[in-house]
Amino acid sequence: MESRTHNCGELTKKNIDKNVRLFGWVNSTRTHGKIIFIDIRDRFGKTQIILNTDSLIGKGKTLSNEDVISVSGNVIARSSELVNNNMTTGEIEVVAEELEILNMASPLPMSIHDRSASTEEHRLKYRYLELRNSELQNNLILRHKTTQVVRNFLNDQNFIEIETPVLTKSTPEGARDYLVPSRVHNGKFYALPQSPQMYKQLFMISGLDRYFQIVKCFRDEDLRSDRQPEFTQIDLEMSFVDEQHVRDLVEELISTVFYEVNNVKMETPFPTLSYKDAMKRFGSDKPDLRYAVELQDFKSFSDQSDFQAFKSSESVNMINVNNSDFFSRKIISELDTYAQSLGAKGLAWMKYKANSFEGGISKFFNEDLQNTIASDCDIQNDSICFMVADTSQISLKVLGKIRVKVAEMLNLCDDSVFKPVWIVDFPLFSWDEDNKRFDSVHHPFVAPKDKDIKIAISEPEKAISKGYDIVINGYEVAGGSIRIHDQKLQQEIFETMSLTKEDINSKFGFFIDALKFGTPPHGGIAFGLDRLVMLLAGVNNIRDVIAFPKTTSASALMEDSPNTVSDEQLDDLGIGIKENEKNI
Ligand code: AMO
Repeated sequence: MESRTHNCGELTKKNIDKNVRLFGWVNSTRTHGKIIFIDIRDRFGKTQIILNTDSLIGKGKTLSNEDVISVSGNVIARSSELVNNNMTTGEIEVVAEELEILNMASPLPMSIHDRSASTEEHRLKYRYLELRNSELQNNLILRHKTTQVVRNFLNDQNFIEIETPVLTKSTPEGARDYLVPSRVHNGKFYALPQSPQMYKQLFMISGLDRYFQIVKCFRDEDLRSDRQPEFTQIDLEMSFVDEQHVRDLVEELISTVFYEVNNVKMETPFPTLSYKDAMKRFGSDKPDLRYAVELQDFKSFSDQSDFQAFKSSESVNMINVNNSDFFSRKIISELDTYAQSLGAKGLAWMKYKANSFEGGISKFFNEDLQNTIASDCDIQNDSICFMVADTSQISLKVLGKIRVKVAEMLNLCDDSVFKPVWIVDFPLFSWDEDNKRFDSVHHPFVAPKDKDIKIAISEPEKAISKGYDIVINGYEVAGGSIRIHDQKLQQEIFETMSLTKEDINSKFGFFIDALKFGTPPHGGIAFGLDRLVMLLAGVNNIRDVIAFPKTTSASALMEDSPNTVSDEQLDDLGIGIKENEKNI
């Protein structure tokens, strides 16, 4: 096969009068009198080809979109009225001398250029065709650029890339494991890593300071638009560091990525919010700071009202947004249903117009109280207040979600703006009411604050951790911590989580053991690469930045996986499928 001289996105005025050979797909054909125009496409772009001899026109008439062709010919300038400044190759066209059809394409089962014309299921089934779409190709190119920038940055900072096993043992990141049955050890299972957490800490014990890896992780959990069962982390770990050291490095990494990939300058240092303040002000530990709407404690006001339901509630919080006219009865009712689906008893509201409250629960607030609320809560005319009364936890959480929903409705989110924030001072543990035990908020290797080492064991609910998350535009993009490097404390933390000595030994014995052989103080972080690229690409679904993603029910529709396996394979593994669950 002859070599191509240029790709389809490369030719400009500089190449005029050159003889070139291009390879690509037929993107479109148009017949204009005695001329056929073809747009030939590859991943670099499109070039306009002209067929203007009888034999070429004859061949051109047989072409269909997506046929694979090779064209050679002369580059000429387009006449000025035909110049297309939206294309790199818009100043030129190629007059074909030779056209070879390398492979004809059957009619395609979906449109490549209009993704919205097919359902997502259909597109995922033919994902390899959908990946011909330039938007998706650009997302994958952006992903590639991101990992290149990350690798270069970390390499320059003295990090080394080391791989960790994929067939491993369960890691406690909080989700269910994907298990792989062992043929050699019938009845035993590997777990796919939820993250390389223990391995990267073991690297620090090995003296392999400054490790990183761009690594697949697997979690069997409920899927959402920003969650996949297999996803990629940019994982790193450093020795002899405290929180500030890791955070400084990570800020530099993020700002380098945003600048080099998207030409966006991020101001450092990033703002910091404690977990408690984030919950109080935004009702979420993943606050989107692109809009200023904040939750306000409304209890002291509602206690003075005649609204009994609020008076008997532990906590009442309120948000206030402009544009009250947008919120019709129908929209308010939708928001109310949404609030109830999140566990609230309902969503109360009242509008502020011409210096007084109206509608909703306004009648329970007398004039004086209305004036006090308007001035103390800085309520402007033509705005609306939404309130949720419940336990403090439910009231904050539900109103936090209403805040996000309302911002979406009012288009308050600008995708070209990036607002990072550190969330710090997380509780070390949360109480698991169902199992009546403490659970780690991040994972069990996170160190408590130095001042809280004792209470981490004596009053676990009060201990604050050395964990930190990075949130950008409402997405948790990264999470990490300084780790426990003291063997005794690690053992005690496991015991606080009600793990028996046998459990600790069988699950983490090797790790606890390793901690006693000279473990340096260390810490690290892991980014969700998919989420990071999703933000950089300006899309709101991580499936759009993953080549072959799974559906929300964790299926791969193209290759039809998961799927049944033969009885021989099951026999080898010593596995029997319960009869009533076969072929479901
Ligand atoms: P964590 O569990 O917070 O921390 O995960 C780190 C980051 O990974 C991303 N992420 C996901 N992305 C897509 N789909 C998922 N199912 C998914 N789950 C997590 C998020 C998250 O912030 N070992 C620790 C890190 C550490 O302590 O260093 C860990 O895995 O962006």
